[in-house]
Amino acid sequence: MIDTLNPRTPPSTTATPFSDYRDLDARTLEEIITSVKDRLGRSLLVLGHHYQQDEVIRHADLTGDSLKLSQLAGRNRVCQAIVFCGVHFMAETADILSAPEVSVHLPDRAAGCSMADMADVESVETAWAELAQHLDVDQITPVTYINSSAALKSFCGRHGGIVCTSSNARKILDWALGRRPRVLFFPDQHLGRNTAKAMGIALDRMAVWDPREPLGGNTGASIQDHQILLWKGHCSVHQMFKPGHIDQFRRLEPSGKVLVHPECMMEVVDAADLVGSTEFIINTIDQAEPCSSWGVGTELHLVNRLAKRHPDKSIRFLSPMVCMCSTMYRIDPPHLAWCLANLERGTPINRIQVDAETARWARVALDRMLELG
Ligand code: 13P
Ligand code: SF4
Repeated sequence: MIDTLNPRTPPSTTATPFSDYRDLDARTLEEIITSVKDRLGRSLLVLGHHYQQDEVIRHADLTGDSLKLSQLAGRNRVCQAIVFCGVHFMAETADILSAPEVSVHLPDRAAGCSMADMADVESVETAWAELAQHLDVDQITPVTYINSSAALKSFCGRHGGIVCTSSNARKILDWALGRRPRVLFFPDQHLGRNTAKAMGIALDRMAVWDPREPLGGNTGASIQDHQILLWKGHCSVHQMFKPGHIDQFRRLEPSGKVLVHPECMMEVVDAADLVGSTEFIINTIDQAEPCSSWGVGTELHLVNRLAKRHPDKSIRFLSPMVCMCSTMYRIDPPHLAWCLANLERGTPINRIQVDAETARWARVALDRMLELG
């Protein structure tokens, strides 16, 4: 095992193309991935989000939800490269939080997040300028869900705002409202609404901000009454879970419990027994009594893995539809093998690098979150 990224093979300048890996059989890909990982040793850190497919997550050195993965990327003082098995905003966050000499790579650059794409910095800047015509924007805290571009995190850093994840949203909203009376929350309206409601904020104190409408679809008078402005964005995977699916589960499993992710719509969260991040969902099922029964509303690969890992418990996917995150699924063994092999050859591919000015302010917003614990 070597602890450096310097390749043993003669230096080369051209990366091997993805087509060299695309059609390899599963065993060969497995051999490439494990042997490169062995040779690179601790100079390489493979991080994996819980929604990754089994064939990929088993190669992750560390796994977690978005908060845990951010903390892990920030804390590592040993590796020289991080290969992020997740989506683009996670790799960007790892680049911002990791040491400057660490490079971060996403095995498939097209692994984005459709929710993150629902708010771009130009639309948020426009919303901010429109709000400034009716309200004192120094009295609004911008809060971005971590599922957002580095540019939006940077916007929050510059405007006294903060980042949140699904596991700390309540703590972050508490902090934000303790400083200023209003919050502009983007891009996930559901996480924002579910969190604010759980804090006791009435629904009529929240308004949706539709970026395609003037003043977000609000009026100058109505905007004065609202404490929380919720960007009209959502996760297309979690949007598929409906309250009727919970009714159906309860008919089949009257003593079963329903556990969902807070990106689900309010009616689903209200009807569930427990709500939390992917890490919370895993811990809850791990610690559940044998023979207990669960209906789980989150991405399919994670639910299937939990069901396999706990044959003594009944674990059902809450929706009759296939709700999988197609962008997470883009990270597959051929892309992982391609990425690792080129890293070892000294011809790294798909480096995710946030420009210094964006990273500086995004880091301010991320550090505010991380300091809250
Ligand atoms: P977690 O932070 O709970 O893992 O959620 C990330 C995500 O993208 C869920 O859709
Ligand atoms: Fe984005 Fe939804 Fe996929 Fe999570 S599950 S990465 S929010 S599209």
